[in-house]
Amino acid sequence: MSFSFGLIGYPIQHSLSPWIHEQFLKRTNVTGTYDIYEIHPEADFAAEMDNLKQQQLDGFNITAPYKEKIIPYLDEMDAYAEKIGAVNTVLCKDGQWIGYNTDGIGYVRALESKYPYITATKDKSILILGAGGATKGIYQALIENDYDNITIANRTIEKAQTLTQHHATSKAITREEAENNSIEYDIIINTSSVGMKPNIHEVIISLKQLKKDVIVSDIVYQPLMTQLLHDAKELGANIHFGHTMLLYQAQYAYEIWTDLHPNMDQLDDALQQVLEG
Ligand code: ATR
Repeated sequence: MSFSFGLIGYPIQHSLSPWIHEQFLKRTNVTGTYDIYEIHPEADFAAEMDNLKQQQLDGFNITAPYKEKIIPYLDEMDAYAEKIGAVNTVLCKDGQWIGYNTDGIGYVRALESKYPYITATKDKSILILGAGGATKGIYQALIENDYDNITIANRTIEKAQTLTQHHATSKAITREEAENNSIEYDIIINTSSVGMKPNIHEVIISLKQLKKDVIVSDIVYQPLMTQLLHDAKELGANIHFGHTMLLYQAQYAYEIWTDLHPNMDQLDDALQQVLEG
């Protein structure tokens, strides 16, 4: 038996997903392929989906800008993906396409693997920075993993309020409030693209004071050492790199497709080396 996986998105020529899934195939001792199906934004998406159906894939990933656009083409959707309203993984089974979202859950897996002691107690106070596309999945995954002390800070506070309104224990604040009260948090997570190349000197908030043993985490992985993580390290924080989310969302997708569980030993360092060329 040989697996056949794919990725749709645009642009995806430099995607790291083929590399990651090839590692998983090796680590689980099975053969398979992971191919790129780049779909231009001006292409006929319905025709592209017809074409993809002919490929007899076991599963595929969806990245920007198609995580919502794929939804009408699915036969079923997992409850968590439904809640997020975005799909990054499709399982093709008996001619049916079943949609999942592994991004937020992958993020939580990555964080808990790197800092296992945080899973011992879920009462950690968490500050999420940003309220864009990636935030919703991470926030929802944290809630579903019983973290219930979450604050979201965003430039446009209304977007943070929209996310937190259904959870009495969550709150929305301005970036200024986050800067002034940053010492209160056990975990601070940048879920925005602020700091990504080429704007490598930008930070979503400037960190002044941090709690002892705080974890500062960034989902940006280009560069790995963002300005936010650099500043956090200077202040003595534990830091958590963005490429680990990429690894663990892929691990969860691979499990959905194969029912196999690739071990993650040393993959973090290996991917870091790939990223750093
Ligand atoms: P998305 O994930 O929605 O595609 P993103 O650029 O990754 O887009 O993230 C958007 C988030 O980053 C938003 O929370 C945005 O703040 P607004 O809601 O106020 O727009 C935040 N963001 C982007 N650029 C920013 C900047 N220069 N300063 C502060 N926040 C910024």
